[in-house]
Amino acid sequence: MRRSPTTLFASKDCVPVTDHALLSTDPQLDALWWRQAVVYQVYPRSFADLNGDGIGDIAGVTSRMDYLAELGVDAVWLSPFYPSALADGGYDVADYRDVAPELGTLADFDAMVAAAKSHGIKVIVDIVPNHTSDLHAWFQEALASERGSAARARYIFRDGTGPDGSEPPSDWISHFGGPAWTRLPDGQWYCHLFAPEQPDLNWDNPEVREDFKTTLRFWADRGVDGYRVDVAHALSKDLSEPLRSKPVLEGADLPLDGTDPLYDRNEVHDIYAEWREVFNEYDPPRTAVAEAYAASERRALYARPTGLGQAFNFDLLQADFTARDYHDVVTFCLNEAEKTGSSSTWVLSNHDVVRHATRYGLPAGVDLDEWLMSDGTAPVLDAEAGLRRARAASLLMLALPGSAYLYQGEELGLHEVSDLPYAALQDPIWLRTGNEKKGRDGCRVPLPWSSEGSSYGFGDGPAHLPQPTAFGATSAQAQDGRPDSTLELYREALRLRRQLQTVEDLAWVDSGHPDVLHFVRPGGWSCVTNFGTEPVALPAGVVRVSSSEQVPGVLPGETTVWLTAWPQD
Ligand code: NOJ
Ligand code: CA
Repeated sequence: MRRSPTTLFASKDCVPVTDHALLSTDPQLDALWWRQAVVYQVYPRSFADLNGDGIGDIAGVTSRMDYLAELGVDAVWLSPFYPSALADGGYDVADYRDVAPELGTLADFDAMVAAAKSHGIKVIVDIVPNHTSDLHAWFQEALASERGSAARARYIFRDGTGPDGSEPPSDWISHFGGPAWTRLPDGQWYCHLFAPEQPDLNWDNPEVREDFKTTLRFWADRGVDGYRVDVAHALSKDLSEPLRSKPVLEGADLPLDGTDPLYDRNEVHDIYAEWREVFNEYDPPRTAVAEAYAASERRALYARPTGLGQAFNFDLLQADFTARDYHDVVTFCLNEAEKTGSSSTWVLSNHDVVRHATRYGLPAGVDLDEWLMSDGTAPVLDAEAGLRRARAASLLMLALPGSAYLYQGEELGLHEVSDLPYAALQDPIWLRTGNEKKGRDGCRVPLPWSSEGSSYGFGDGPAHLPQPTAFGATSAQAQDGRPDSTLELYREALRLRRQLQTVEDLAWVDSGHPDVLHFVRPGGWSCVTNFGTEPVALPAGVVRVSSSEQVPGVLPGETTVWLTAWPQD
């Protein structure tokens, strides 16, 4: 029998942390669908290669839409699939309103959207507004134009410093290593917070602002439901002369008053207020999620209903696998989300970080860049423990109120590929750091769909990044129908989540054990995680799904279970 939320939350053991936002019971049809959605991130070049050229394509995504529907996701977010010279995995966009020829056509995109819609799956595209590709028509025009021209005013061009202008205009540095300025043969410099092939746009320029609104409408008109906004915190810069000093990347030192010269400036929200007007031209309004590296206290500004509506937080991704870290992160993030009436986001893996099965198989605090440079040998990865913890973490994440963003392959429990040959590396981090850091290719290795065959079912030919032989055993085919597999765990969790999730509420229950986190969701659904290695007694309830093999009355170490007060429906 279901207990009512009221009864449950009146329990003296429960401490409510959120208390708002009744949701529609049908998030698929509702304008608030995004609030508690499971969003699956596709990195298109590594998802599925339908024409066998080694590069994943849009038709490949379409071909796997049944798989995504069976997995049970609410939305699919595609990392950039636009024309690009791939100086940064597609985050160097040469044309915001087209599909890269090697990935397909706009007609393929439309077919993919139609396939998604036929399954009730929403589509989110990546918008990359901080910088274009150097091959973008605007930048090419800027290169061919004079200093001071309107074409250069769309970007951030400056004369250099020093007696002959041979020093960069400021001390700004690039995220990928080296200065954030590159000099042209005519002596002027242009700004790029990422690779030199990613010149930064000048968001003080009205033409830039208008053009992005055209792009937003372009995709919304093609049936896109929302946007993931890349580097959302960097668009507005203090470009007044002399340029202010900023010799460090953004981070903990960002001022809380929004006055940093480069990041998280107050003015950036004017841009998103304009975007919100565009989103609201549609019914239902388009949604957005900000990738904003702001101080956690200021993240909520991006998530305002008058702004982008939701913001990623990477706190869970950065947390150690401990009860204390998870408790604190969840409590903090739910409170932050509530400040603006947004819902929290949760992320454990994405295309920029070492996969969480691997992170959790390494000692806490290990330097992941150094570990990658050792080809994954020092320290030695405990792959089994990493996967066990990752499964427990994912199951906990999927029980939280808010949106869970999954990264392709995590449902297969994939590990980072740490020993890619140097010659295969594509990430600009590898080159720009003078080969001191390998970068992010290890989490972007094409997915294994089948146990055998060329590129394990990714395509008919070799994949654009080499796959390890271990991928065969972790393929979707190998895991399909195997009750203990990670794929089936995700499927079952997503199925149950749809059934159990009602209001965005969570209450902690005192587990009486420092390694055990226990929280309840309205309707008699609870989630218990044992972060320790020793088994503990299982709280009362019916186990509906477990991240490791069930033992009656026992919650094994490094395991999450979902409990209900009533047996299976
Ligand atoms: C964040 C993206 O996630 C990352 O992949 C990219 O390199 C940078 N933004 C620059 O666009
Ligand atoms: Ca292809």
